[in-house]
Amino acid sequence: MHKKNKVDWLWDAWCIFSVIGIWPRFIEPHLVKTSHLELAISNLPLALEGLKIVQITDLHLSRTVPNFFLKKIVRKINALKPDLLFFTGDFICQSLVDDPVRMEHFFNQLETRYGCYATLGNHDYEECLSINSKGDYDVIDTQKSSLLRGFKRLFSEVEVTGNLSERAAKVDIHPQLLSVLGRTSLKILHNETRQIAINGSVLNVCGLGEYMAGRCLPEIAFQKYDAKYPGIVLSHNPDTIAMLKSFPGEVVLCGHTHGCQVNLPWMWKKFTKLENMTLRKGLFQIHNKWMYINRGLGSVMKFRWFALPEILHLTLRTKS
Ligand SMILES: [Fe+2]
Repeated sequence: MHKKNKVDWLWDAWCIFSVIGIWPRFIEPHLVKTSHLELAISNLPLALEGLKIVQITDLHLSRTVPNFFLKKIVRKINALKPDLLFFTGDFICQSLVDDPVRMEHFFNQLETRYGCYATLGNHDYEECLSINSKGDYDVIDTQKSSLLRGFKRLFSEVEVTGNLSERAAKVDIHPQLLSVLGRTSLKILHNETRQIAINGSVLNVCGLGEYMAGRCLPEIAFQKYDAKYPGIVLSHNPDTIAMLKSFPGEVVLCGHTHGCQVNLPWMWKKFTKLENMTLRKGLFQIHNKWMYINRGLGSVMKFRWFALPEILHLTLRTKS
């Protein structure tokens, strides 16, 4: 029997690693799964029964995102004929608006009956916010390669402290991004509530500022909330749920985690940095609220394993 030589072993290793790499790098990041969910809401007026909501998040648009992927998302969303569309932050990668024309075009193609609302994520401020080597929320150096930072993370044992650096506390909203979004049909809710009139009733929609920038300010965000009616809260980071216990809102929609992005034992913890590590993806019921953590559509480092890009299709139901 032919015994394998060094070249055979190298060839085997190349075949295995190329197959392993092709799926998470080139295939999975371009697939899109629609998750269908019905939630029973105790105080839902009959006029809002069956309201269809689409939530998308973490698009992380840059020039590397292919057109066919954007077209597929638009086609899938418009086929659902949503009443409302919500985007829960991370429009761009590392505070860089490098593809404003496609950003504008993408959001202007989305069709809804009652409008599109959004909040910002940690990549959407003037400087990008993440976890520093001490585990504090801080501004990160975007000059350094994101690939290198990704690899460094694999060997880092840092845990999130929840502390905010002085620099992070001073970061402002991204003016160029806001100007691009101002040319779309999206309404940005930054610590603000709007009441949407639907079939003679009202739905509150409250958008929170970014938690990692210390801008999640519910006292301001809920000022115009009309507690006679139900409400949806848009919050990029799921850790904000700890701040919402004494505030209204029946459904909290989040993103940020990318569904752990690389769902392999040991690795997911390196890519998911949260204060509450249980809030990784999917549906939760906390403080009498439904909370859904969407896996998002994109990522800074295009690499996803068992974390398919996601569109949430949510239908509100009255509780009998
Ligand atoms: Fe993100």
